[in-house]
Amino acid sequence: MGLFDNMLKGGESLIKMEEALDFEFLPKVLPFREKEQRFIAECIKPLFQSRTGRNIVMYGPPGIGKTAAARHVVRELEEQTDDIYPIYINCWQNNTSYKVMVEICEHLGYRLVQNKKTVDLYKVVASMINKKSAVFIFDEIDKAEEHDFLYFILEDIYKKSICVITNFKEWVVTLDSRIKSRLTAEMLEFKQYNEHETKEILKQRADYAFPPGVWEDNAFERLAKKTYEIRDIRTGLFLMRESALLAEEQSRKKIILGDVEKAIIKLENFNIKNSAELDEDTKFVLSIVKDNSGKKIGDLYKLYQEKGGKHTYKTFQRKIEELDKGRFIATKKQKGTGGNTTIVEKKLTDF
Ligand SMILES: Nc1ncnc2c1ncn2[C@@H]1O[C@H](COP(=O)(O)OP(=O)(O)O)[C@@H](O)[C@H]1O
Ligand SMILES: [Mg+2]
Repeated sequence: MGLFDNMLKGGESLIKMEEALDFEFLPKVLPFREKEQRFIAECIKPLFQSRTGRNIVMYGPPGIGKTAAARHVVRELEEQTDDIYPIYINCWQNNTSYKVMVEICEHLGYRLVQNKKTVDLYKVVASMINKKSAVFIFDEIDKAEEHDFLYFILEDIYKKSICVITNFKEWVVTLDSRIKSRLTAEMLEFKQYNEHETKEILKQRADYAFPPGVWEDNAFERLAKKTYEIRDIRTGLFLMRESALLAEEQSRKKIILGDVEKAIIKLENFNIKNSAELDEDTKFVLSIVKDNSGKKIGDLYKLYQEKGGKHTYKTFQRKIEELDKGRFIATKKQKGTGGNTTIVEKKLTDF
C-alpha cells in the first residue's frame, strides 16, 4: 500500500454534496414529522373544496423541524394544484406589514410594487388571491414588529389557511384582541426528537452529504449523542460539517472520533464566548449586522466603510464567517440576478 493511498489529494473533498449540510436543505422525506404534516394537510384540505381552511399555530423549540415540515407541505401543495397559492414568508427578514406585502407580491409574480403604500398592496394582493385561495405560512412570527398584515388577511382574504410558526406558544397572548378573536387557530406542538430519531435524521443527512464509509461508527455515534443532548438538529449539522473539515485538513479519507471531539470543543468555545469577548472590530461588524439584519454582505460592507471600518472586504468576510460560526449571526446564500450572494442576519440571543 502506498504511503498516500489513504489521503485526500489536493482539492479533493470528503463531502459529496455540500448543500445537504446547509440548514435550508430540504430532504425528500421528513421522517418523524408525518403526524404534524398530516395535521397541517388536514387544516388546508377545505381549500381543495373551495372552502376556507383552518389556521394553525406551530410551536416548539429551535432546530426540530418546524420550518422543514411547513416547507414540505408547501412543496407538495405546489406539486398538487395551481388553485392554491402557497406563500411562505420568514418574518425575521420581513418584519413589517409593508415588507410582508412586498414579499407576497413577489410570490404572486406582481412586480409593480414601487411607490405603492401598504394599503395599496393590500388591495392588489386581495384582488389577486381572492380569485383562488392561499396558504400563508408566517415563520418566526415572533420577529414581526407589527401584525396588521394578519388582520388584513383575516378580514380581506376569503379562502385561506394561516400557519404561523413560533418558538413560544405564548406568542398568541401578545396579539391584540381584534386579531386573536379572528385567528382562532389550532395549536400544533412540535416535540423534541428522541435519541433514536435524532440519529436517524442525521444519518439521512449524512447519506446525502457523504459517500458511504466516510464516517467511522464511533464518530457518528458521538455526533448523534451530542446532537441529542443539545436537542437541536441544526447544531448536529454544524458538527457534521466541522468534523468533515477537520478530517480534510488532515487529508484523511475518514472522519474519526477525534474529529467530532474537536468539533464539539469548538462548538462549546463558541457558545461560551459572548459578544463581550470579541475584538473591537468584530464587535463593530456585529453591531452593523444587528442594525441591518437581512441585508446582503456587500451592502453591509459598504455600511461598515461608511461608518469608518478600515479593513478590506476579505477581512470583513472573514469576520462575518467567524461570527456565523460563533452563532452570533446567521448567513444564508441567495440566488440573485448577478449570481449568488450571502444574506446576513442577526441571531435572537447573544445580544
Ligand atoms: N424530521 C426531520 N427529517 C429530516 N431533517 C430534519 C427533520 N427535522 C429537522 N430537520 C433538519 O434540521 C434542521 C433544522 O430544522 P428546522 O425545520 O429549520 O427547525 P426549526 O424550524 O424547528 O427551528 C433543518 O436543516 C432540517 O432540514
Ligand atoms: Mg425555523
